[in-house]
Amino acid sequence: MLNPSLRSQVEPFRVMQMLDIIHQRSREGKDTIMLCAGQPSTGAPRPALEAVSEALFDEPLGYTEVVGDARLREAVADWHSNTYGVDTSPGQVIITTGSSGAFSNAFLALLDHGDRVAITAPGYPAYRNILASLGAEITYLKVGAETRFQATATMLEELAEKGEKPKLVIVTSPGNPTGTIIDPAELERIARWCEDNGCALISDEDYHGISFGRPTVTARQFSDDAIVVGTLSKYFSMTGWRVGWMIVPENLVEPLTNLQASLSLCAPAVSQVAGVAAFGEASISELNDHVERYREARAVLLEELPKLGLDTYADPDGGLYLWLNVEKLTDDSEELAHRWVEEIGVAVAPGIDFDPFEGHKWVRLSLCTPADETREACRRIASWISR
Ligand SMILES: Cc1ncc(COP(=O)(O)O)c(C=O)c1O
Repeated sequence: MLNPSLRSQVEPFRVMQMLDIIHQRSREGKDTIMLCAGQPSTGAPRPALEAVSEALFDEPLGYTEVVGDARLREAVADWHSNTYGVDTSPGQVIITTGSSGAFSNAFLALLDHGDRVAITAPGYPAYRNILASLGAEITYLKVGAETRFQATATMLEELAEKGEKPKLVIVTSPGNPTGTIIDPAELERIARWCEDNGCALISDEDYHGISFGRPTVTARQFSDDAIVVGTLSKYFSMTGWRVGWMIVPENLVEPLTNLQASLSLCAPAVSQVAGVAAFGEASISELNDHVERYREARAVLLEELPKLGLDTYADPDGGLYLWLNVEKLTDDSEELAHRWVEEIGVAVAPGIDFDPFEGHKWVRLSLCTPADETREACRRIASWISR
């Protein structure tokens, strides 16, 4: 029997186990309200589908350039420049297989074994799993409501003072699982700190486009050295198409291209065709309607949860989630999540996936579920609590 490597011993993603339970329930004819999904329930915008249906017959759809189809690189660069008023050239854009592909490539390009990386807890679990498998030293920045669940430059300075200066920092705004948006001035302080301290900054901007009022700024407004990561999976509602991107400083283009050439050759060609059309005006108007639906689901949660006594949560400024404290109900949110799905058919994501320290007191709720179903989920939770 072959033994798997030590580096492959990463933690499971518990929300995927929840999805298995949901599939099993559906086979048994039981309904479930999905508040656990990390993806829009809608498909790709119509112009993207139309572009693909033409390309299927008109284009060979072979490998694209390693760094991505020139049309898509240009679309991403234009979108980035126009949205944020920065000067982003297509030559700095590398198209990847989902933003997940961007993270593994960027980590390989930036880090050697044992290098220290600062990430927040709570935060997106794949960072720590990829980093652990690459042998990076992970330092957690334990963040809470005082800093909108976001990292600060002061935290980085404190690490440096302890002799634990990181080689790389990852900022995620809007956050997963928290939905909080970092204050632009704080992002600027972090970008400056990173430049002054020879530390790389990856700004995960995957949820940009989904904000309920607060401005989302790009790290590249503050530093030409910042690496920005984006995706078609969230705002663009195209999770399964597996297209993401990195916008990188010129000197990293070559090593990242060489790594990508060996790791994946290129992102899926057909999805890149869809991606170009996703940036068009008609797509954007369709996608903005989705954001209005997330806003409605958010409003229902903000109205109903406090009535249930669940009034501690991260401000859901944007993105697709609400990070909810459930310690009034349990000190084991994973068990609570299992009870809710089995007893009342409401699926939430257990917090331990996102925060190894405090996650047992939290769950993540999704804003992707329509408002009426979200209200019904709250009604079921209310009756569960009152039992
Ligand atoms: C913060 C964050 N970054 C990256 C990803 C990866 O997304 P994808 O590979 O679909 O672009 C996700 C997915 O949920 C996420 O939440």
